[in-house]
Amino acid sequence: MEIFYVSLVSFFVIIVSFALHFLFFKNKSGSSERLPPGKTGWPVIGESLEFLSTGWKGHPEKFIFDRMAKYSSHVFRTHLLGEKAAVFCGAAGNKFLFSNENKLVQAWWPNSVNKVFPSSTQTSSKEEAIKMRKMLPNFLKPEALQRYIGIMDHIAQRHFSSGWENKDQVEVFPLCKNYTFWIASRLFVSVEEPTEVAKMLEPFNVLASGLISVPVDLPGTPFNKAIKASNEIRKMLVAIIKQRKIDLAEGKASPTQDIMSHMLTTSDENGKFMNELDVADKILGLLIGGHDTASSACTFIVKYLAELPEIYEGVYKEQMEIANSKAPGELLNWEDIQKMKYSWNVACEVLRLAPPLQGAFREALSEFMFNGFSIPKGWKIYWSVNSTHRNPECFSEPLKFDPTRFDGSGPAPYTYVPFGGGPRMCPGKEYARLEILIFMHNLVKRFKWEKMIADEKIVVDPMPIPAKGLPVRLFAHKA
Ligand code: HEM
Repeated sequence: MEIFYVSLVSFFVIIVSFALHFLFFKNKSGSSERLPPGKTGWPVIGESLEFLSTGWKGHPEKFIFDRMAKYSSHVFRTHLLGEKAAVFCGAAGNKFLFSNENKLVQAWWPNSVNKVFPSSTQTSSKEEAIKMRKMLPNFLKPEALQRYIGIMDHIAQRHFSSGWENKDQVEVFPLCKNYTFWIASRLFVSVEEPTEVAKMLEPFNVLASGLISVPVDLPGTPFNKAIKASNEIRKMLVAIIKQRKIDLAEGKASPTQDIMSHMLTTSDENGKFMNELDVADKILGLLIGGHDTASSACTFIVKYLAELPEIYEGVYKEQMEIANSKAPGELLNWEDIQKMKYSWNVACEVLRLAPPLQGAFREALSEFMFNGFSIPKGWKIYWSVNSTHRNPECFSEPLKFDPTRFDGSGPAPYTYVPFGGGPRMCPGKEYARLEILIFMHNLVKRFKWEKMIADEKIVVDPMPIPAKGLPVRLFAHKA
């Protein structure tokens, strides 16, 4: 009997050893075989041109969906912007990345971004991003946001009276940029006068389109122009910072009047204050993140409301009830914003179909497995908003404009991600919600409109915009 047990245990040990050996052997030798399926494209540039050009043609989702169909609906391998990369797709991909932030992955920006913002190599590092995230809530916390509503409405009124009223036709996109940039300049750096705002906006326009580009620094390339523009803006910001420091010292400026004052007067846990260039870089990043995204969203709201009269009617009805409840000259407030439920559902559906950010990159901190494939340490990982937003598994009839998707508890977790998710989720989400709703209020209260180019092309570079700036014919409501 004893011999039987000894044989049984020996047999068991042999089987387990064999299994372990097999697993170990497979792990050692098979690493490259178990990379996600896909191709790496041309030497050096990889598949960057396909990646960028599907966007220029207005269909950034095509790059993703073609490869999801060919290789795997969860993850595929590619080579983007000079880096080996894996694209994670679908709700499971989003969940994995958002839940493993700073554990298996960390934020990563393409070289083009790091070169346009020389110190953003630090800014995008874990510690700098944490510092920034610690500081932002003070500026973007609910009490602060509630104070901004009146300021935003006041600027919206000035914007509509100078840019839209008494005009038969307008080009919407430049106006939306002007609107969101005016608000950001006022709230971030207290620059409010239209001529000063316009002076600052000019280089920003150049900067945005060179940011996510092939980093070729030759005269005339978008990348080269972006570097020059960022230097010009940094100079302007440093000049404002220097003056602000004097004003703060003389009591002419308040430490809480805007985000710039806040950054200049807040020290870190070691009592250290940020230097001028650091403050300038952080504000530059915020101005970019905080105005281009929202201006693209506002532009597409105008586009969809022109195309869908019944949706326009719903928004108009809701906004006029609010407008009619106000005393003459009374600015919008927090309660009014809470009543804009249908309008926000409409804005959410616009952000689903025309997300301002197409996705973002991460870097693998160590080798790990995802969906049965190995992701080597140092690889870049891209998550794509469209891989869920336009995926019939996540949204039925994904191309249909349907704001009721956001009724009740709304879309399933990790499917609706225009603001990202996890620890790096957009800290400006609520700020963006306010400026978008205040824009919608002021717009539909004044006008109906129709598109002047029926099938205007959309270009995504890096945000979606109508190629001709969305010219519309305006019809003012009768007083
Ligand atoms: C419709 C408007 C907006 C959209 C769609 C949007 C979208 C996003 C997304 C998707 C991310 C996450 C990127 C990632 O996963 O790496 C992000 C991050 C960020 N957003 Fe926004 N955003 C908007 C408006 C704003 C505004 C108004 C601000 C500032 C007031 C802002 C500031 C930031 C910052 C600082 C980050 C980086 C957070 C970090 O890395 O920890 N965004 N945004």
